[in-house]
Amino acid sequence: MNNEQRRIIIGNWKMNPPTLEQAQKLFNSIKKGIGETKNLRVAICPPFIYLSKLSDVARPTKIKLGGQNCFWEQSGPFTGEVSPLMLKNLECEYVILGHSERRKHLGETDEMIAKKLKAALETGLKPILCIGETEQERKKGKTFEILKNQLNNDLKNLTPKIHNLKSFIIAYEPVWAIGTANACNPEEAKKILIFLKEGEMASRRISILYGGSVDSNNAKDYIGIGFEGLLAGSASLDAKEFVKIVKSLSNQIN
Ligand code: PGA
Repeated sequence: MNNEQRRIIIGNWKMNPPTLEQAQKLFNSIKKGIGETKNLRVAICPPFIYLSKLSDVARPTKIKLGGQNCFWEQSGPFTGEVSPLMLKNLECEYVILGHSERRKHLGETDEMIAKKLKAALETGLKPILCIGETEQERKKGKTFEILKNQLNNDLKNLTPKIHNLKSFIIAYEPVWAIGTANACNPEEAKKILIFLKEGEMASRRISILYGGSVDSNNAKDYIGIGFEGLLAGSASLDAKEFVKIVKSLSNQIN
């Protein structure tokens, strides 16, 4: 797979929209707007409860589905959890893990994320691991240290010989840029990308995405500096805006 074929844009719907009808409408508008995207992969991560209905709509299209989280066991007494196998059986290709909102609001630790990553990979899902520093950590000049620790701790259960790291994706999502309309400026993001590509991840061929207030105005900048894709939150809830992002990247590649 060459660089262009690796490029991916992922929509993280988070806890939206409130009804299945609205979810189907949003998905259909995105599907219609995108049409055929030859050189770009597109995935949508809706809330779990919409996955089953949306997989019927997604099946004949190139849009892939993903979960926003999963548990580390496949079945058993784990009230409220969803297993990697359940996602796989609902035709999910991806699963977002370690999102900062889960780390913050649900108390997800690197220990838990490491177990989830292993289980997801072993189930054949492609995990999208989110890493990123908070505003405070950034101000203290701790960004690189934080990213390094998150990666070391989150990947500690993986063995390159056993786990297919080619299907693994990392999303650099500075916490201070998420949902703020204050995206990380591309110069700064590039330094992080170089750090991840040449330092921490040098020995592994892992795709690195940018996420945090991505929109149709800044999307091209991140791809231009070498990110292999984008993780969009609020922009993915607006079909027109999301389609605009996809089209702008697809044109950039042509
Ligand atoms: P945002 O969210 O695009 O709304 O900033 C991104 C994310 O949390 O993945």
